[in-house]
Amino acid sequence: MNTLRIHPLVAALALALPAAGALAQKSATQAIDEYRQMLADGNPAELFEAKGESLWKARRGPRNASLEACDLGKGPGVVKGAFVELPRYFADTGKVQDLESRLVTCMEKLQGFNGAEVAKTAFGKGEMANVTALATWVAASSRGMSFNLPQDHPMERTFFEAGKRIFFMRGGTHDFSCASCHGEDGKRIRLQDLPNLTRNPGDGVGFAAWPAYRVSNGQMWTMQLRLNDCFRQQRFPFPEFGSDALTALSTYLGVNAKGAKSAAPTIKR
Ligand code: HEC
Repeated sequence: MNTLRIHPLVAALALALPAAGALAQKSATQAIDEYRQMLADGNPAELFEAKGESLWKARRGPRNASLEACDLGKGPGVVKGAFVELPRYFADTGKVQDLESRLVTCMEKLQGFNGAEVAKTAFGKGEMANVTALATWVAASSRGMSFNLPQDHPMERTFFEAGKRIFFMRGGTHDFSCASCHGEDGKRIRLQDLPNLTRNPGDGVGFAAWPAYRVSNGQMWTMQLRLNDCFRQQRFPFPEFGSDALTALSTYLGVNAKGAKSAAPTIKR
């Protein structure tokens, strides 16, 4: 007779109980972080990356041309490293541009698309969905590289200053600014940690994380759409696609993120 035999179920319970205890002690934000890590293994953003890469190479638009000669700031056709230096000044348009508006410029100049029409298209629709896929692939090509936005041109410095003002500008029904939610360390809304965007919030956080796939609505979001949603949280109307206000804000966030390693495209709640 073996008196030491233990019922398998009892053994399983004995093993499981300490684990259950640990689970109960885990904070909700820790649990969300783990959930994100689990999801990151199969980030659907990869599908958008693949779509973006084929769109870049495909002959499209009224001119039946590819985007392979597009200059994203590091010379025609150079994709790697471009994302971590945008927004920047472009001499051909005489403007500071972010990734998305620069892609629309290339679609217009190289492929003959009507840039104003593309800019008016809703996110997720028509050519705007293609801009999002392209932005996802371009961002992915700089994964792991450190943000280092140029600030040599006077207009780049002006955009930084304008972006800073917009970030701290209070208004709307709640008298909120971006800084109300993102101006200090350790802030949180419900279960969401709010990164402090007045300085480098760390690798793969804030500016260094978008475009991102959003699990909550199953959509791929670019930085412009992320910012629009935060204008909504601020109870503000959001600026038009490619507007100087959005580019200025991105310049401010991007310069602050100097040194942060890009993890885009990430997966977010
Ligand atoms: C009422 C609070 C609130 C205001 C005001 C607000 N945000 Fe946000 N912001 C959030 C929340 C909530 C999130 C999402 C956090 C999450 O889902 O994990 C977020 C996320 C972000 C992110 C992405 C952070 C990341 O690591 O993924 C950026 C960038 C950002 N906001 C910028 C801004 C800017 C710029 C403004 C001003 C135009 C602004 N926010 C105004 C609440 C706010």
